[in-house]
Amino acid sequence: MSADIYLWFKALHIIAVISWMAGLLYLPRLFVYHTRSETGSPQSETFKIMEERLLKVIMRPAMIASWALGIILLVIIGQPDWSYELWVYGKLLLVVALTGAHIKLAGHAKMFAQDRNSKSEKYFRVINEVPTVIMIGIVILVTVKPF
Ligand code: HEM
Repeated sequence: MSADIYLWFKALHIIAVISWMAGLLYLPRLFVYHTRSETGSPQSETFKIMEERLLKVIMRPAMIASWALGIILLVIIGQPDWSYELWVYGKLLLVVALTGAHIKLAGHAKMFAQDRNSKSEKYFRVINEVPTVIMIGIVILVTVKPF
């Protein structure tokens, strides 16, 4: 496979993960302000639409594209004997954790949509930091490849 094609896959991969990260950082912010709005108020109904669209139109497709393109890159760098340096396993572990954070946030969006949220503004301010910390670990592992 030519180096060019590999770099195109990597460029598309980076575009997908930036879009996914944008959603993972923005959605908890929406939750922070959603907790301040009255249940059933026009503001709360608007937040529900914003949260659902962010998940469906941006985050889910970007997550699927990040995984698909990431696996393509993995297949390519694993040739010919499917052996990988340790950073790859460390990165995959962190990406699984990031996917877990995505699923957790989708669960909170569902609770808000059903007017059943019981979490506080402070809780969402704290979990807003989780994707950031995971992303820092991922980018260091894949760029520096320390082990
Ligand atoms: C979803 C599963 C993922 C898989 C299987 C995966 C796999 C890979 C692989 C094999 C590479 C190529 C490494 C190289 O050529 O040196 C790569 C590049 C990269 N990945 Fe991922 N990745 C995934 C998710 C992510 C996520 C969630 C992020 C960021 C939050 C990320 C950030 C990057 C970056 C910045 C590069 C470019 C590194 C460079 O060129 O130095 N990846 N990924």
